[in-house]
Amino acid sequence: MKIFSQCQFQPLPGSLLLLLLSGSLRVTAIPSTVNIEIPVPAKDALLRSLDRNLVSWSIQNRDLPMFTRSKLLENLFKALATNIGIGQSVRLGGGESDKTTYGSDITITADKYRSGYYGAQAQGNVTLGPNYFASFKEKYAPDTRYIWCLNLINTTNKFDAAISTAAGVLEYLGDELDLFEIGNEADFYGSKGFRDSEWDASMMLPEWNYIADEIQKNSPNKTVRFMAGGFANPAYIVTKDFDIPGIIAAGYQSSRIPWYSMHLYPQSGCSGAVTIAPLLEHNTLSDILSNYIPQVAAAESVGAQFAIGETNTVSCVGRPGISDTFAAALWLVDYVLFAATIGIRRVYFHATTTGSYSPVIPINYSLDSGNYSTGVLPLSYGAYFISEVLSFNDTLLIMQIEGGNDTDYSSYSVWDETNKLRKIVFINLQSHNSSTGGTNPATPDTEVYSSSGPRPSTRVTVATPWEPGQELSLIRLQAPGSNSKSQVNVSSFTFSEKDGSVTNNLVDTIITVKDNGNVEFDLLASEAVLVQHYSDVLSNKHPTKSGSKAADSTVNGVVMRTRGANMSISSVLVLDMKIMVSAILVSALLAFI
Ligand SMILES: *[C@@H]1O[C@H](CO)[C@@H](O)[C@H](O)[C@H]1NC(C)=O
Ligand SMILES: *[C@@H]1O[C@H](CO)[C@@H](O)[C@H](O)[C@H]1NC(C)=O
Ligand SMILES: *[C@@H]1O[C@H](CO)[C@@H](O)[C@H](O)[C@H]1NC(C)=O
Ligand SMILES: *[C@@H]1O[C@H](CO)[C@@H](O)[C@H](O)[C@H]1NC(C)=O
Ligand SMILES: *[C@@H]1O[C@H](CO)[C@@H](O)[C@H](O)[C@H]1NC(C)=O
Ligand SMILES: *[C@@H]1O[C@H](CO)[C@@H](O)[C@H](O)[C@H]1NC(C)=O
Ligand SMILES: *[C@@H]1O[C@H](CO)[C@@H](O)[C@H](O)[C@H]1NC(C)=O
Ligand SMILES: *[C@@H]1O[C@H](CO)[C@@H](O)[C@H](O)[C@H]1NC(C)=O
Ligand SMILES: *[C@@H]1O[C@H](CO)[C@@H](O)[C@H](O)[C@H]1NC(C)=O
Repeated sequence: MKIFSQCQFQPLPGSLLLLLLSGSLRVTAIPSTVNIEIPVPAKDALLRSLDRNLVSWSIQNRDLPMFTRSKLLENLFKALATNIGIGQSVRLGGGESDKTTYGSDITITADKYRSGYYGAQAQGNVTLGPNYFASFKEKYAPDTRYIWCLNLINTTNKFDAAISTAAGVLEYLGDELDLFEIGNEADFYGSKGFRDSEWDASMMLPEWNYIADEIQKNSPNKTVRFMAGGFANPAYIVTKDFDIPGIIAAGYQSSRIPWYSMHLYPQSGCSGAVTIAPLLEHNTLSDILSNYIPQVAAAESVGAQFAIGETNTVSCVGRPGISDTFAAALWLVDYVLFAATIGIRRVYFHATTTGSYSPVIPINYSLDSGNYSTGVLPLSYGAYFISEVLSFNDTLLIMQIEGGNDTDYSSYSVWDETNKLRKIVFINLQSHNSSTGGTNPATPDTEVYSSSGPRPSTRVTVATPWEPGQELSLIRLQAPGSNSKSQVNVSSFTFSEKDGSVTNNLVDTIITVKDNGNVEFDLLASEAVLVQHYSDVLSNKHPTKSGSKAADSTVNGVVMRTRGANMSISSVLVLDMKIMVSAILVSALLAFI
């Protein structure tokens, strides 16, 4: 039997279908000017703290070794970790979790795991041994932490598959393991014949508890913790009691369960028609995510946190022309920030070695439907932009800017714990198609659309509590168009297509707060902007090309500052200023002679 966790059909509820339909009939556009205001103090009730691992990753257990065949994922993780100040959180799980067994005497070599041995035989079951861990250990950015999803389907020998796998995971991952999950998408077990059709959360509980207890018994020196849930159905199509309020009522509630999760694929790639349009509709996204408010509330009512434990643009490994476009990067940004405003703490983006929705493609391979080769996809730049939003040496909090959203745009304000405004994010989701950057060798070519007419631009004015004259950094998540698959960057910051290292450093555009506290900027259709104090940029570490130097320049009267490996840039710039000031004084003096 072939099961792909991301392969389920997830019909959209009627209201969303209507929205999608009306969206395609209506011609919407962001106005050419948008004025928004950020009142102070921020309303405490609306502020939600930002988890540094807001963007997290989900990878099939068996696929992680293959990702070590290139440095792409490692270098992506390093860049993200540098900005957020901690390692990435990776959930190792998916449909294969429920086919996985473990044997300490299994001698499959690390190289064989890396070769894709199990990827090629996805129909079979997956047997891991110690070399599985050797195949990727030390090959990821330091401080990467894992969540491991265990097999709940296989009941043989009192769940020996789950319990022996857990022992191996604890032995080899040690403290890098944050949490276990038990069972992937168990809400489908009844309908797929792995359990009785009446199977519900209360029937699952004794099995789940038995496995959890055994794992804890075998590891007396470590407090083992779990993420419970992991259901396939989204919050708007819950079956039985398989959602967070349901399982808490059934008894999944203890200090060993600090996290709950559910999965979400807003479009189903297994059942036909999928389009790029919903990726660029803020209202569609916010309507879908608002269904999770009761899930978050349930988790928080027992002192736990809620995550979207597996997600991406389109289920069934994504769809070229949608998942691999710049629209997906903009969608990721709006998705995780909106999620954070309603208390969803983390969002785990699912990746496979053969998926157009992955942030990077680690290996070359051919499918009947098209050829893939190693490279970086736009989603990585969305994740990178978010790491810039999260970069700060203290806790940050987020809320939507009231009155600052519509179908085509959304905006967020980010605050520190003393209720000071720190950052502003504005996302322009208006579609713009370009024939530039329309292909990427990493994923199969699809039809390249091109919009007629010039790319629309919007002038945004934000009334802020910031002091007039203060220097701000403005950075852009940008590409030739929403359909672009390549030529994406964050204010010139780019990853190498070969190994994911930094090829171009980020260039901050410097703007200043106006006399009335207003902040003004222009942004194009399909572009996102982050504005913050330049001094905050300087006080945080950023990934840069090794050995590169920070530099100043002026382009069309706009001051640009390139970040460098030597980020004691503040002293450099202060020095520059002094030299400039004395140069001006000298020339003024000379003028008088
Ligand atoms: C698991 O592997 C065994 C041995 O290779 C095979 O006989 C069996 O069919 C596999 N089970 C499934 C569910 O694929
Ligand atoms: C179930 O797990 C046992 C190990 O406990 C393994 O021998 C068996 O092949 C597994 N069955 C399937 C269908 O994966
Ligand atoms: C637990 O820790 C104790 C003391 O450090 C040690 O003697 C014992 O072997 C450990 N047990 C296991 C199962 O690792
Ligand atoms: C994939 O590449 C091979 C050559 O390596 C070529 O023969 C084949 O036509 C390509 N497949 C597709 C779908 O483009
Ligand atoms: C992967 O494919 C790309 C482009 O088709 C090619 O340039 C590269 O040499 C291939 N790499 C390997 C390891 O085969
Ligand atoms: C964060 O940086 C600011 C400015 O450099 C400093 O005043 C503050 O103490 C730092 N906070 C922490 C928690 O490091
Ligand atoms: C977002 O926009 C919708 C539609 O204009 C509006 O009803 C809603 O209140 C807005 N949200 C916020 C936080 O302003
Ligand atoms: C861009 O192309 C997509 C089809 O991929 C279409 O749905 C969309 O309306 C186009 N946008 C513009 C502004 O032409
Ligand atoms: C970044 O993207 C912008 C807009 O698409 C483009 O003008 C610029 O050349 C790109 N820069 C780099 C370094 O890729």
